[in-house]
Amino acid sequence: MILALETSCDDTCVAVVTQAGELRANVISSQGIHDRYGGVVPEVASRHHLELLDPAVDDALTRAGISLDDVTLVAATRGPGLVGALLVGLSHAKALAAARELPFAPVDHLHGHVAANLLEPGGLEAPFLCLIASGGHTLLSRVDDPRSYTVLGATLDDAAGEAFDKGARLLGLPYPGGPALERLAREGDPGAFAFPTARGVEGLNFSFAGLKTSLLYRVRDLAGEGGPSPVDREAIASSLGREVAADLAASYQHAIVESLAHRCERALQQTGLRRLALGGGVAANGPLRRRIGALDAEVTVPPPELCTDNAAMIAAAARFTEPLSFPAYLGLDAYASGGRLQGTPA
Ligand code: KG4
Ligand code: ZN
Repeated sequence: MILALETSCDDTCVAVVTQAGELRANVISSQGIHDRYGGVVPEVASRHHLELLDPAVDDALTRAGISLDDVTLVAATRGPGLVGALLVGLSHAKALAAARELPFAPVDHLHGHVAANLLEPGGLEAPFLCLIASGGHTLLSRVDDPRSYTVLGATLDDAAGEAFDKGARLLGLPYPGGPALERLAREGDPGAFAFPTARGVEGLNFSFAGLKTSLLYRVRDLAGEGGPSPVDREAIASSLGREVAADLAASYQHAIVESLAHRCERALQQTGLRRLALGGGVAANGPLRRRIGALDAEVTVPPPELCTDNAAMIAAAARFTEPLSFPAYLGLDAYASGGRLQGTPA
């Protein structure tokens, strides 16, 4: 039994997965307190992880019908993410492992998003392409071996989820912006406004900064002279009117979806691979799932709770990570950026 913890951002996550890759428990405790600040406040997130981890571990063990004595491997996200938040989960997991002298697997968060597609039953077989689009990352990778992934392209500026979050903020919607923007967009016309899809960006890289700026100018034009303050949600919403806001949301979402889908199409053509998997919070987006699902490829999208941050994916990656035996992991540190894989073939 693998017990995994994930605390790279604001979700406190604990999961139990068997060594064969079968999910037994997937506890996700969303802190839900960052909305009032319009984004995640790192210190607040860390303090909440401290409070929530213990009950979340108990909850996961209970749901899995096991006790700590049944755990044979402990895993945790080591990075990338908010260092303070990561350190809480990493230290907690190391302590759980050390108390029983269990082996410990440090997992790369992005490897986790890829590995969400490897849970059984129905785990994807390599080779496959994997688009990871989250609040912190947007990248297209190639998976030839479940122990690693090769980055084929990544965002040159904002992540797709960040584009959703910033766009939502400009439209007066709450954080996290993706789900709120998707809901509003259902009432709007995706063809109402033309937003850039960065098709000009070469290769398999992405860019969303121009799109966000373009929405900012549109909102300013539509809101009229002076316009509301970008932090005054109610003023933005009332000056735009619900119909126009919905059209803007639908058109903006359409541009993000097209931009992501276009790179996937290009990658399928360039690599000749037939299987494509999605991961990251943005993969929970309905229009994106439908658009990518219609591509000429074998598309796998994990259920939404395995797309947004979760610890099941960390346990899934731990199955393919070389574990460290006690006490070698005690001094292990977290990292904020970049990806680091263990057990990657030379
Ligand atoms: O993977 P994730 O849970 O955390 C990170 O590692 O960043 O992704 C969170 C991101 C947020 O930016 C959120 O707005 C976006 O995923 N997101 C969505 C949807 N659900 C979450 N974006 C678009 N549509 C959604 N339904
Ligand atoms: Zn993530």
